[in-house]
Amino acid sequence: MSKLLSKYDYEQQTAQSRDRRMAWWREARFGMFVHFGLYSHYGHNEWAMVQENIPVKEYEKLAQSFNPKPGAPREWAALAKKAGMKYMVLTSRHHEGFSLWDSKVNPYNSVNYGPKRDIVREFVDACREFDLKIGFYSSLMDWHHPDGWRCAFDVEARKRFTDYIHALNTELLTNYGKIDILWYDVSAPMESWEGWDSLTRNQHMRALQPDIIINDRSRLPEDFGTPEEHLTAADRDWEACMTFNGLSWGYLDAAQAVNYSYNAQHIIRMLQTCSSKGGNLLLNIGPAPDGSVPADAVEPLSQVGKWLQENGDAVYGKLLKNEGSNTCWFGANGLSKATSDGKSVYLWVWVWPESGEMGIGGYMTAPKSVRFLKDNTPIEFEHRGHRILLKNMPKKSPDETADVTVIAMDFEEKPEYLFASYYPQLHGGRDVAGDNKI
Ligand code: GLC
Repeated sequence: MSKLLSKYDYEQQTAQSRDRRMAWWREARFGMFVHFGLYSHYGHNEWAMVQENIPVKEYEKLAQSFNPKPGAPREWAALAKKAGMKYMVLTSRHHEGFSLWDSKVNPYNSVNYGPKRDIVREFVDACREFDLKIGFYSSLMDWHHPDGWRCAFDVEARKRFTDYIHALNTELLTNYGKIDILWYDVSAPMESWEGWDSLTRNQHMRALQPDIIINDRSRLPEDFGTPEEHLTAADRDWEACMTFNGLSWGYLDAAQAVNYSYNAQHIIRMLQTCSSKGGNLLLNIGPAPDGSVPADAVEPLSQVGKWLQENGDAVYGKLLKNEGSNTCWFGANGLSKATSDGKSVYLWVWVWPESGEMGIGGYMTAPKSVRFLKDNTPIEFEHRGHRILLKNMPKKSPDETADVTVIAMDFEEKPEYLFASYYPQLHGGRDVAGDNKI
């Protein structure tokens, strides 16, 4: 590798290439997170080893009987594709320390134990087959490694452990061709990037994969933020990672069938929030011990995919954001929310008006046309002053997939829009009372 840069120079250099490296990611919007490991086999959440204080020797027994069926990653990728997702991130090694690949530095892996197969290889092949970008989740924490906790106070243990983490990630980014995302997690017990030697390691990772995108969990800000279990916009690139049920990332082995999973509409709402605020949604599935996709994820994800086939223009691609912030420039109304690519404003109507009519305030420019996005059926409209009125629409929501109808308002160019203020007569601080006359 060429000579190591200072933190300042490294951050300058990665910032310069960021637009190029992130171009696909910024348009992709929707990815699949897969939490799979020995914890799936145990079925009590991926933190069980700590939460139940399971001794290493006892936990290791799971590795003997862990036996995902061949081709399981292909099922994950097929579902991701069907759901309209554009990339996948797999827990190549979670905090439990079990590697899902043929690691030379970590013999506690899926080739030496359990299935005796390289699950990471199967995952990479499946992503390529379905044309999905490839991400590796890689925990910094390791509950199985003897130096994993000693590194907090023992300098030699720290050196050994950071070398080990370095070597694991080098294997992942060397042996599987082009990899698109490196997704670090939990930098504990050390509390600084210096402790983790992240500056050196990440430079090395970028030398191996010049186009790679790295998340912000190695105690360096890197390429994107990772709000977890909440959809909070940041003033940088961000990706919300969300469980499928608000409960657990790893598979839960329930005695009775429980279904806490989000439905299609809930997922579409999350996508709207992300799309309108400059973020991505990384939605998790926790496959069953045999690797099959959790049954209660299949239907909602298939519906989301069907919905995206019809309404994808409101989600993917270059969406317009407010100057200086990460939120959509245009407003909607109390029944809907908006995304926009600049020329078209997409109203995601959650609550369909029984009257088949509604107004949207703040638009000083008249649209050229208004239509249902899913089939381009024109919608009658009138433009009065700063207000667009939609008329004679069906009395029931036309979207049968998830009850989220998208209406596209197409303009000649970016319309003039004034944010609503407290008074309808004083829109955007301007006296528009006169504009609103019939
Ligand atoms: C948390 C948890 C972990 C999960 C991750 C996903 O940090 O430790 O179990 O993998 O979030 O973002």
